[in-house]
Amino acid sequence: MTSKPVLWLPRKVSDATIKRASASYDVILNEADTPGTRDEIIAMSARVDAMMPCHSEHFSAEVVARLDPRLKIIANHSVGVDHCDLDALRARGIVVTNTPDVLSDATAELAMLLMLGAARHAVTGDRLVRTGAWDSWSPAFMVGKQVTGARLGIVGMGRVGRAFAEKARGFDMEIHYFNRTPLSPELEQGAIYHETIESLLPVSDFLSLHCPATPETLDLMNAERFACLPDGAVLVNSARGALVDEAALLEAIETGKLAAAGLDCFKNEPGGNPAFAPHENIFMLPHIGSATTKTRDAMGFRALDNLDAFFAGKTPRDAL
Ligand code: DGY
Repeated sequence: MTSKPVLWLPRKVSDATIKRASASYDVILNEADTPGTRDEIIAMSARVDAMMPCHSEHFSAEVVARLDPRLKIIANHSVGVDHCDLDALRARGIVVTNTPDVLSDATAELAMLLMLGAARHAVTGDRLVRTGAWDSWSPAFMVGKQVTGARLGIVGMGRVGRAFAEKARGFDMEIHYFNRTPLSPELEQGAIYHETIESLLPVSDFLSLHCPATPETLDLMNAERFACLPDGAVLVNSARGALVDEAALLEAIETGKLAAAGLDCFKNEPGGNPAFAPHENIFMLPHIGSATTKTRDAMGFRALDNLDAFFAGKTPRDAL
C-alpha cells in the first residue's frame, strides 16, 4: 500500500473539509488555529507534500526561497492570492491554486450588507438601541442615503463584482463599472462600461471595490480619486485593504466628502485602523466576506479538488 501524501492545514477549516481531507491525506492540523508564521511554514515544508493555507499565511519571496523541495503544491483556501509571491513559487516549481467562484455570492452578500449598513447608519442605530440611549424619534432622526434606484459604480467586474451587480439589480440600482476590458452584453446585463476609473467615479453615488490587490491596485482609492466622487458618496470595500489609501479615506469621511464607508478589509489585518473607530459612519467588519457555512465547505472542497487532481497527475482546475 502506498502512503498518503501529507497535507498541512495551518488553519482550522470546516469539519466537512477536514473529514474529506483525512480520507485521502495524512493531515497535520494546527488545532490552535493561529496564523502560520514564517518559521512554521519553512519548517513544515520539509514534513509535508502539500499545504492548504489561507490569506493569513504569507509566502514572500524570502520564505519561498527557503521552502524544502518536498513541498509540491499550495492549494489555497482563498480566492485572493496576494499573500503568495506567485513568481517566486513558479520559479521553484511549486504549484499554486485558489478557490474562485465558490465564494462570490457570500462575498457579494456581505458587500450588500456593508452598503446598506453604511448608508442607513447601522452602527449608530445599533449603539443607540443597545445602550438604551435611544430616547427620541423625529422625521429628521437618523436619516440615511437611499440605495434603491441610486447609481452604483463597481471597480472590477470579475466573479464577485458580477455577483454584487446581480444583487444590486434587485435594488433597481443604475450600474456602472470599470474593468480592464468590457464584458460581453450577456455578462454586462445592462451595466454601463467606463474605460477609466476617473470616468466611473463622478457617477458613483455608491462605489464598491471588487478587484485583487496587486502592485497596480495599491491605494487605488487615493485623495485625488475620492475628490472625483459625488459629494456624499459611500465607499464599500469587501476586497482587500490594500486598495484604499486609509489616510485619504479618513480625510474624505472627516470633510464629509464621503457620507459613509462600509469596510470588511483593512491595510492592517487582523486589527484594522484605530483612527476609523470614532467615526460611526464607517461600518466595519473583520474580513468575513466568505464566512458562511456553505461557502467555507465549498472553499475547502474546491481546494481539495485541486489537491486530488494534482496527486492524480492532472493539472488542477484552479492552477495559477
Ligand atoms: C479570499 O478568499 O480571498 C477571502 O478574502 C478570504 O481569504
